[in-house]
Amino acid sequence: MEPANKKKATAKRPAKKSPGAPAPDGQTRGEQSSSGATTHFGYKDVAVGEKTRLVHNVFESVAGKYDVMNDLMSLGIHRLWKRHFIAISGIQPGQRVLDLAGGTGDIAALMSKQVGAHGSVVLSDINDAMLAVGRQRMEDRGLVGNIEYALANAEKLPFADAEFDAVTIAFGLRNVTDQPAALKEMLRVLKPGGRAMILEFSKVEFDPLQKIYDTYSFSILPKLGKVIANDEDSYRYLAESIRKHPDQDTLAGMMEDAGFKNVTYRNMTGGIVAIHSGYHG
Ligand SMILES: C[S@@+](CC[C@H](N)C(=O)[O-])C[C@H]1O[C@@H](n2cnc3c(N)ncnc32)[C@H](O)[C@@H]1O
Repeated sequence: MEPANKKKATAKRPAKKSPGAPAPDGQTRGEQSSSGATTHFGYKDVAVGEKTRLVHNVFESVAGKYDVMNDLMSLGIHRLWKRHFIAISGIQPGQRVLDLAGGTGDIAALMSKQVGAHGSVVLSDINDAMLAVGRQRMEDRGLVGNIEYALANAEKLPFADAEFDAVTIAFGLRNVTDQPAALKEMLRVLKPGGRAMILEFSKVEFDPLQKIYDTYSFSILPKLGKVIANDEDSYRYLAESIRKHPDQDTLAGMMEDAGFKNVTYRNMTGGIVAIHSGYHG
């Protein structure tokens, strides 16, 4: 993994649109979820109400093979990205922290060690199949004392205002239908001074890397999905959803729009992924 280059976010905000119209990057904004509005599911346009169900089907289908596919697809690099993400999070012993879209629990496991026996971690996800695999993995690793589980949609969290010292979401935000709503919820459940961190695929910085990455994503990845998980479509969705996700500056602007302060991001591995950070007040 190359050294992360930290950037002060210079927000590239999506243009303001009238309610009901799709945003320029295909991202559906919070106020647009009236009937008839569409959003993207990979490269397909679908009704807003449909995306959450389609994403649910993807992760229900891949849950059992999710971890082995992650290791294969990234040659294990996702573990380094996640370790770095938590290493720079500033999470302290004794804190109460929340991992959204936490799936099979890689981030929660790292946070569990960081907060220690006097802290607590909530591992949450909208998908019961992913959460069940996550829970089993935590128990198998003996991580039981300081972890709670919550079946929760990131767009409408079942937590009190100002409940957490830190909130994370890793490779989850691009799957959320109403991302501005999820960002606002992250801010709401943070304590004043608390930090939100987002680890997500982003925009590659160099053209030659982009070409190799495109070939890999659209030609090799779906085939790997077919052979290992018997699910070519879900891994094609993965590649497409990454291309549709807001780039670094746009996401930073969305965080500022949601009310976060001191928003910054840093790229890793040439922008294949980026870590965004913002504070509550
Ligand atoms: C690619 S996985 C990431 C899992 C884990 N964070 C990791 O890094 O390995 C994306 C996860 O997002 C979850 N997800 C999708 N939409 C969500 C939503 N609206 N609220 C909460 N979780 C959601 C999926 O169920 C899935 O477990």
